[in-house]
Amino acid sequence: MEKMAKEGTTVRMEKWLLYFAYDCLHKLTFDFHRGYLETGDDVGNFIKDAYGGLVYFGLCVSMPVLHRFLIGNPLLKPFLGKPPFLWAFQQAYAAVAARKAQHEAAQTLPGSSDFLDLFLAARSTYPDIVTGDDVVVNYLFLNLVAGSDTTGTSLAVILYYVYRDPRILAKLRAELAAAGYDGSSPLTYRDGVRLPYLDAVVQEGLRIHPPIGLTLERVVPAGGWQMPDGGPLLPSGTKVGMNAWVSNRDESVFGPEDVDGFVPERWMKRAGETEKEGGERIARMKKLMLTFGYGSRVCTGKSVALLELVKVVGTFVGRYDVEFLSSEWKTENIWFVFPSGFNVKVSLRDGVGDLGSLDES
Ligand code: HEM
Repeated sequence: MEKMAKEGTTVRMEKWLLYFAYDCLHKLTFDFHRGYLETGDDVGNFIKDAYGGLVYFGLCVSMPVLHRFLIGNPLLKPFLGKPPFLWAFQQAYAAVAARKAQHEAAQTLPGSSDFLDLFLAARSTYPDIVTGDDVVVNYLFLNLVAGSDTTGTSLAVILYYVYRDPRILAKLRAELAAAGYDGSSPLTYRDGVRLPYLDAVVQEGLRIHPPIGLTLERVVPAGGWQMPDGGPLLPSGTKVGMNAWVSNRDESVFGPEDVDGFVPERWMKRAGETEKEGGERIARMKKLMLTFGYGSRVCTGKSVALLELVKVVGTFVGRYDVEFLSSEWKTENIWFVFPSGFNVKVSLRDGVGDLGSLDES
């Protein structure tokens, strides 16, 4: 970004933020950099492959019967290429084997350096739950496919809406400046998480544009399920689901401010509200926002995602100015709701110094 800001080249923000999210997740999961940001390239075409897999996934989630005629059809097998997401499984299997060999050679036990080590440690501590290496591979695979496109998309959404509205941008910058942050180093999570307006823009971005755009299905358990509004008794086995794009716009929870608009103030205490009332209203919105899912299958990477969002949004806004090169962006719902056309010129803000080392930040 520093280089592009200095050279004044066109930046496709949604692409670079995806690269960041993929790099970050590889680092956290396997403790290595795949090099998306460094090379400016979709290394190994994994992001492109994930996109293709998602198109298929989105189609079959909406119309499951199609799978039987497509990849699930044995007659078509010889004509189909590699299955989607094969790279993620291969990478996970290879990483497990390499890490186990590394620990054996050094006679060490898995520690907590990355998700892989944590999962291997869990395999020793809870052998009845993490029953084999294939379960560890599954965990790693889920991290890879669930944690990068989602976080990259949310980063793009939040920055897009913040820079589109000069009032919101100025208010966020005033908060950062009042907290002593001048954009000359990466914002630490410890400092960022204390800033209520930064939290408000992050929450609002997550609310208005959840990265997952189709329903999160659940199966009605034995005994059936009675709809709370007095609707029909659904028999066990029925698939039910809610779409965060709909429920996150429920006026009774997120109103009365324009629920289709980007209004971070809904996440702040209102004039006339006591601290307790405001706190309870905001806690209720956070509880009912469906962006990370709900219940026993809720996103396990939520804290990691929030950490990335707070740090990147705070640092970017404190450090860079943005000039839009296209009027509106486009969005496409293929299970993940990807934006495109977030084309900008980026420049360093006046008086912002060189970034130091990024290793410890
Ligand atoms: C803004 C970023 C993110 C969003 C919006 C998001 C959203 C979601 C959603 C909606 C689910 C399904 C929940 C359900 O069915 O109720 C999910 C599952 C999951 N997410 Fe995330 N996610 C994000 C980032 C991450 C990150 C960074 C990681 C990894 C570090 C991650 C790992 C996972 C995993 C492993 C699951 C599957 C959990 C399970 O089935 O038990 N996610 N995520």
